[in-house]
Amino acid sequence: MTRSLISIDDLSTDEIEAIFELADRFLDEMATPGKPYRVRGRRSLARDFILSTLFYEPSTRTRLSFESAMHRLGGQVISSAEGASSSASKGETIADTVRVVENYADLIVIRHAHEGAAMVAADYTDLPVINAGDGGHEHPTQTLCDLYTLRATRKQKNKGKDLSFNDVTIELRGDLKHGRTVHSLVYALARFGARIIPSPAPGCELPSHVKQRLARDYHCFLLRKQEIDDLSDDDRNSEDFPEFVYVTPKEPHQRTLWTGAEANVWFRLSLDQRKSLREMKTVDLIYATRFQKERHDSSSEDDAAEDYPAIDAKMLNEKRYRQTQVMHPLPRVDELSYEIDQDPRGVYFKQAAYGVPVRMALVAALLELFPSLLKSSVAPRHEFFSNVEGIRCVNARCVTREENEQRYLSPKFAIVDETPLTLRCAYCDLEYEPSIVSRYSNKKYTDDLSEWREIYERTPQDLVLFVSEQEAIDAGHQRRHGKKRSAAQKVAATPTAK
Ligand code: CP
Repeated sequence: MTRSLISIDDLSTDEIEAIFELADRFLDEMATPGKPYRVRGRRSLARDFILSTLFYEPSTRTRLSFESAMHRLGGQVISSAEGASSSASKGETIADTVRVVENYADLIVIRHAHEGAAMVAADYTDLPVINAGDGGHEHPTQTLCDLYTLRATRKQKNKGKDLSFNDVTIELRGDLKHGRTVHSLVYALARFGARIIPSPAPGCELPSHVKQRLARDYHCFLLRKQEIDDLSDDDRNSEDFPEFVYVTPKEPHQRTLWTGAEANVWFRLSLDQRKSLREMKTVDLIYATRFQKERHDSSSEDDAAEDYPAIDAKMLNEKRYRQTQVMHPLPRVDELSYEIDQDPRGVYFKQAAYGVPVRMALVAALLELFPSLLKSSVAPRHEFFSNVEGIRCVNARCVTREENEQRYLSPKFAIVDETPLTLRCAYCDLEYEPSIVSRYSNKKYTDDLSEWREIYERTPQDLVLFVSEQEAIDAGHQRRHGKKRSAAQKVAATPTAK
């Protein structure tokens, strides 16, 4: 089965580790003397393969490091470096583009302004597809480079090279709202147990759908300083101790110590984890990002320019940052001073250099040059549901909102919770709580939500869900009259009860 990388969750932890071990191998064999992070030379592993890069948004690092990676593997590259020079500018859809390009190449790397565009590409080709950034949604290969850099610096400090980061405190600075590198990274950090301190610029906080996914999929939740009951008064009053931190307990427990405000789920932190919270006065890593100007409206630009958090030598002299490494996916603007470039704690150029060995390993894995490296598939966390009529994603940046793509694309949702029923747009992650169930076949709706599961199990293509009754009426559906079903009828009708 063809594997693609659309979200960081498309790779299991073992697979990420296997990709990193292969990247280590490429560096062991091919590093530039004196620069152990930089690959040079060429192998002939991928000599029979062509990689296609389809970039509809600007890029330096991602596109060129993918192309360099393919050349160093001995393969060939064909490239469309901007939308204006491709037939997208004539109105060609993503689905048509990839169905054509699959005849010319063996793997597609795509960057697109619309959230979910890479998933659409993967749905319409049998080639592996790599998401090189889809709007403000995700950028999973940047996360691989980030994790690899973190792992490499820990390896140097003899802290082991596995992906268990529950002794690591990471401060995320800058634009956490539209920074797609941040979104993929927080999912990975939550998965691997790191403590995450959000330090956003004003108006650039983590979006609620990212926080919801952190809570639902990884049981990661926001802990406030005042909720940590065994902090000393000194720590509680110290400005060094962060006000908020995201933590991922090893095991989620029901209704015990703290509530995850966004998900209304309670967790117990182990004693070790509570002890480690006290260590948060020192930060292991700052992950800085630029203001994503292209995704904000112009009024927020002025506010952000004034208060955008900047990192300079003075800041890194503060007690809590003295041992802190600084990463940045780059490009930078004013948020990261050039004076840190000579400081060994600034690892952002190495992070960019690791893009080549990491992407060589990823390309080699997806092209099955090392057949046992990836499994045939990774089980999805949630069931999916395609809504031919009914709920439409309201995110203006979602690919399903694009007029051009709407000609063939049906909204698709992951069923992320059943009580209450909650759907997550499969393309951009926004969540919805339907209140109306209807059928495509007879267009009769009810507000008896308990019926959805029965229809979904028996005839999923007949299920239509709406957030509000007005949406159902606007779509030409009519209320179904007649008695509501009794509790006993509902139980009898549930497929699991048969
Ligand atoms: N980090 C990153 O995605 O850089 P580019 O936009 O230059 O590809």
